[in-house]
Amino acid sequence: MLNTRLNLDRIRAARQVIDPSFLDTPLYECDALAGHLGCTVSIKLETANPVRSFKGRGTELVASLLADQGRSAVVCASAGNLGQALAWSGRRRGLDVTVVASRRAPTAKLDRIRALGAELELVEGDFDTAREQAATIARQRGIRLVEDSLDIETCEGAATIGLELATGTPTFDTVLIALGGGAMATGVGHVLKTLLPAVEVICVQPLGAPAMTRSWHERRVITTDSTDTIADGVAGRHPIPAVLDDLLQVADDAVLVQETSIIAGMRMLLEHAGLVVEPSAALGVAAVLEDPDRFAGRHVATILCGSNVDLDAYHRWVRR
Ligand SMILES: Cc1ncc(COP(=O)(O)O)c(C=O)c1O
Repeated sequence: MLNTRLNLDRIRAARQVIDPSFLDTPLYECDALAGHLGCTVSIKLETANPVRSFKGRGTELVASLLADQGRSAVVCASAGNLGQALAWSGRRRGLDVTVVASRRAPTAKLDRIRALGAELELVEGDFDTAREQAATIARQRGIRLVEDSLDIETCEGAATIGLELATGTPTFDTVLIALGGGAMATGVGHVLKTLLPAVEVICVQPLGAPAMTRSWHERRVITTDSTDTIADGVAGRHPIPAVLDDLLQVADDAVLVQETSIIAGMRMLLEHAGLVVEPSAALGVAAVLEDPDRFAGRHVATILCGSNVDLDAYHRWVRR
């Protein structure tokens, strides 16, 4: 029996609140990729929605809760995708949204946050510096702070991906999930371990941002002083203890991959699946590329969780 902060009834109910444009995303076997990866590959495509990432599932829940409570303003820290998603969900409900992000975040993400009507505050540091600044703003203005992966709605929203993966009679053995703060892995993992306990849940992080993966292996919070990865969506240094507790219950493994594999994964997804993804979304493919024997002959599903890239950087990465 799982004892995480999540609950299947609440996750099922969440589907009624989330805008349909984020739900029931394509899930299909991609034969062309399979040929190159040596295993059957199913893709869960989370990029074809108004904010080009899965984060809208969670922000829909957050924003609707705040609107129901009569709140008018909210602030979050973001690596770029949560901020866009909260801006989108907040705008539709008349909320003033402030997003704090690193100046080094991809320009495409920052531009979209502004274009969606949010106030954007930039910090010199990284995502964890942005988290501190967002907390300060919330205190100073007396407004609600949304904390990705800690606020249960962010996990429940992501968990609805798990419900969709578990629909019908899925034949996959393994689900590969990009791991950042952990909302997606704990949410999807909770659903899979409840409904399809035999399916293996593997989290994937870059070697250059290993804090949560190391924490999972050591069963205690390990922080790092810095990160060094192109996968900006998962580059955190300070795992949240409650999220780690949940992750320990729902993940079967957590692996680290190299930058070259992430780039090769992005290139393969473009060449063989016709899909533009951001680095964080290529982590699952990267994990198969690094350990083909582990996955040989198996059926893996990978969640392509975002496609917000700066074009120049993307072209550099995928060019041979
Ligand atoms: C594209 C993408 N992939 C993966 C993640 C990591 O998700 P989580 O923080 O829920 O672990 C994020 C987080 O923002 C993201 O934007």
